[in-house]
Amino acid sequence: MKTAKGIVEELFWDGSARITCPPELIPAPGQYLLAHANASPDLLPVPLFSSNSTPNGFRSGPPLPRIWRPGDSLTMRGPIGHGFALPSAARKVALVAFDDSPARVLGLIPLVLKQGAEIVLVSDKVTEDLPEIIEVQPLKAMHEILQWADYSALDAARENLNQLQGMFAGQNQAGLQCEAQVLVRAPMPCGALAACGVCAVTVHHEWKMVCKDGPVFSLKELL
Ligand code: FES
Repeated sequence: MKTAKGIVEELFWDGSARITCPPELIPAPGQYLLAHANASPDLLPVPLFSSNSTPNGFRSGPPLPRIWRPGDSLTMRGPIGHGFALPSAARKVALVAFDDSPARVLGLIPLVLKQGAEIVLVSDKVTEDLPEIIEVQPLKAMHEILQWADYSALDAARENLNQLQGMFAGQNQAGLQCEAQVLVRAPMPCGALAACGVCAVTVHHEWKMVCKDGPVFSLKELL
């Protein structure tokens, strides 16, 4: 893990940003950086996930602080946490945005395409600049797509995990016939530095910290 400077180069209509930083800081899909704008009055850093790599940096999905502006200087620490582990044998991959923008799962697209696998994105949010080869399905098709896939990467907020669990009530991961992982979103103010506990989540009746034990967990652990 490193600390380095970055720059907000460009802001987009959907609230995402293009950020330049040293290559070793670019987070793998599911990992994150903690970033603080040097001129910002906010005391706490914000987590940044990569939705795509760019020359000299990456594009970070929303939400980002509204006060960030192009040219802002950032102090960033990372990459932090356990990201997605795409099986090399996966040939049918589902990317699922359960309750928000799909930005945090989009970083898997180049890796999936590189191994010649098909991708279905399940999301009710509009996403620009998707390769044409990617099929998009609404969230109501999630169950069907998870049955089709041999690997699934989901993104869900901690407060919505009970809804996700409810959808799989009576099933276990074996019943899904695919390997599945979930990126759990939660506030992560200390990023594993101060053991603040703000990001705690219950996994198999035990407390885990999203910031360091995740943010990506096996779906099986969460059911
Ligand atoms: S953010 Fe402080 S322990 Fe996870």
